[in-house]
Order: sequence, then structure tokens, then C-alpha cells
Amino acid sequence: MKVLVVGSGAREHALVWKCVQSDLVERVYCAPGNGGTGGMARNIAIGAADVVRLVSFAKRERLGLIVLGPEAAVDAGVGDALRDAGFPVFGPNRRAGRIESSKVFAKALMRRAAIPTADFEVFTEPAPAKGWARERQGRVAVKADGLARGKGVIVCSDVEASDQAIDAMLVEQRFGRSGATIVVEELLEGPELSVLAVTDGVDVIPLAPARDYKRAHEGDTGLNTGGMGAYSPPKGVDDAIVNEVVDCVMRPAVQELASSGDEFRGVLYAGLMLTKKGIQTLEFNARFGDPEAQVVLPRLQSDFVALALAAARGGLAAHPDLRWNQQACVGVVVASAHYPDDVAMKFGQRIHGLTEMPPGVFIFHAGTRFEPGVGLVTDGGRVVTSVAFGDTVAQARETALTGARQVRFEGAFFRSDIAQEAE
Ligand code: AMP
Ligand code: GLY
Repeated sequence: MKVLVVGSGAREHALVWKCVQSDLVERVYCAPGNGGTGGMARNIAIGAADVVRLVSFAKRERLGLIVLGPEAAVDAGVGDALRDAGFPVFGPNRRAGRIESSKVFAKALMRRAAIPTADFEVFTEPAPAKGWARERQGRVAVKADGLARGKGVIVCSDVEASDQAIDAMLVEQRFGRSGATIVVEELLEGPELSVLAVTDGVDVIPLAPARDYKRAHEGDTGLNTGGMGAYSPPKGVDDAIVNEVVDCVMRPAVQELASSGDEFRGVLYAGLMLTKKGIQTLEFNARFGDPEAQVVLPRLQSDFVALALAAARGGLAAHPDLRWNQQACVGVVVASAHYPDDVAMKFGQRIHGLTEMPPGVFIFHAGTRFEPGVGLVTDGGRVVTSVAFGDTVAQARETALTGARQVRFEGAFFRSDIAQEAE
């Protein structure tokens, strides 16, 4: 069959790479793709949220499966339109995707389904929001309701910070319409964990757990980013924790969505915190995480396309158990100078070193583009993810870092402390 992966990041490169390996697949397309997906699939010049052209392409090519990468595709209704046209889609419809695109929707769903999550309140006016935060000495997280590319959460530890965060969203409207309604919730503490699970709207199969690194710089400093690295499995996370997440977070969420008519087919991602009070849910995403996908998918030994089809068509209950590589996997993102500052970043830098990678390094491309006559140039904030396996996390980390050092372009930077905690 022919498969289309929608999106253009390193997550999508990892998805394309996994689809190419499937015996079920004769051809893989990526829309719009990047400099890496173009080498192993056919890039199609259609944007990830261009519903009309994606549907015509699916019809023309008689696609057997469409995999949605980014939240922008989910939120544009790409899943709805393709499903209405009769195609199997791995990725939810827009309404089910509100579990990611609206924090208010997600928190209300968690409350109804008794999913453990921080105490919270929803506000559109600054004064009551500030009052609620003040009662908690400003120890709150202030969250824009809508999509904000991973940047819509401000974690506060005193009243001055919570006042400022609330003003930034509700008064200065720094997050535009996304921040016109906010969630203010109690501050939680503990290590974070990402659990991703595949679901057909009824059954839930967890994938290997991962931990990602959201801050731009070493030692968890700097701005929040889409993610600067990840590793799997994370220190201190065993099967019991994953099973608890499936039972107390994933299944209740999937059931609650289904019971309101919003069946979810695809990957549901729970961002969690392991607190003294137990597991708490920080957020849901309606798609693979990036960079989590780059360290989870390589560990998956089972056929990804068979799994995605079972979720897209229904019938996951009959799917065989997933097989996993027991080695550790570490991914280090190499980013453009000034990432995640959209205004300061400059693209079009020639990228060197990709052809001289040490054995065992996988390079998943994100912001890269093939410039005829020049070669590969940078084309985004996160440029590539350098991924490696190891018998221990330390070994995987060392190899992934060797790969990251080898990627050379003007202003390139990466975090050398990804997965260091596990040593
Ligand atoms: P979210 O997009 O909701 O996952 O939030 C982004 C990041 O903000 C999370 O990965 C956490 O590091 C942090 N965060 C979110 N909610 C809380 C909370 N209630 N307490 C402490 N940190 C939080
Ligand atoms: N790594 C976090 C995300 O994909 O949103």
C-alpha cells in the first residue's frame, strides 16, 4: 500500500523511516517533509494543514494509510476530511484533538473522568485569577487555553510572577486568542515522564515511556522549546508505572472522549509528573511527541504500519503484543542559534558532517532543506536529532553526542546533559 506521513519535523522523519521498513508498504510520501524524508520517501509540496489538497492527493494516489504528525494537522481537521472521504487515518478528528488544543477542555475532561491532575480554575478576567493564585502564594502554573507551540505555560513560584503571567495572557494578550482564556493550576513538583499510547478509540496499547527536555539550555535553563532531547526508558520508570498510567489516565481519557462521541484514533500522549501524592497529569497531546518519537520509534521492533492500521480501522484488541528493543535510546536535538526565538533565528546555513556519522548514529532531520547546487541547508529552529542505542543509557548518550558534535553549521548548539541523570 501507499502511506502518507503528514508533517515536516524529525518526528515525521522517524515515522517515515519506520513506515519504509514495513513489508506492507510499497511507497511512502511525506507532506511537506524535509531534507531527510526526501532521501527515503517522496516529499509532496502540500502543507500539513492544507486539508483540501491532502484529500485530493489521497484520492489520486489511493492511499492505504495516512499518519498525522503535528497538532496543526489535527487542529485543521485533516483527520476529519480524510476519514469522511473513506481513508484510514492514524490521528484523531479535530473535536477529539481538543484534548490537546484546549487546556480547558482537557482539564474538564480530566475532572469528569477522575484522572489525577492538579487542582485548577478557569479564568477570563485578571482579578479573580490573581486572587486564586495569591491564595496559593503564587505557586501556580498559568496556562493559555489554546495551542501555543509548547510555549503557553508559565510556571510561577511567587505572587509577583503569577501576577505578571496572568497579565501577560489576559491583559497584554501576548498569546493572542490562545491566551484569552486561561487555566490557573496548583504547582506540582517531581520528575516528569511522557507516556504515549496507541488507541483505536476503545483499546489502549502503551508505547515505551520516555523523558523529554523542554528547556533550551544545559541544566534546564533558558526558554521552553518544543523539546531539546529525549531518552527511553527513563530512570525510575518501570512497567508498574506505565500500567498505572494506562489504567488511571489513558483508558479513562479514551473512554470519556468516546462517551461524548469523540472517538480518538491515533497516539494519545500524556505528560505526567511523579509527585509525592502519586502520578499527576500535566497535559495531553493528540499526536507523537517530538523528540519522544525519535527515541521511542527506533526501539519498536514490531511493524508500525500494521499497528497504525489496526488503530485507524479499529480492532486493536486483536493486535499482537508489541516487541521492543531492550537497549536504551537517546536523542539529542541540534538547533539553530537563538532557538526558540523566532525573530532572531537565521536559516539557510550550509550543514556539514552528516555523511561522516559514526556507526550507530541515526540522524533524523527537522529544519533541513535540500538546496540544488548547494546541498543541505538549515530551514528551522530544530535542525536534526542525533539518535543512538546503547546497552546502557550512558553508552547511548555518548554515541548520540558524538553524532551531535559532528553536525556542523554556523551557530549550531545542543544540550550535552540529555539523559545525564540516568548515569
Ligand atoms: P504542559 O504544556 O501543560 O505540559 O506544560 C509545559 C511544562 O510546564 C510541563 O512540562 C511542566 O514542566 C510545566 N508544568 C505544567 N503544569 C505544571 C504544574 N501544575 N506544576 C509544575 N509545572 C508544571
Ligand atoms: N516533546 C513535547 C511535545 O512534542 O509536545
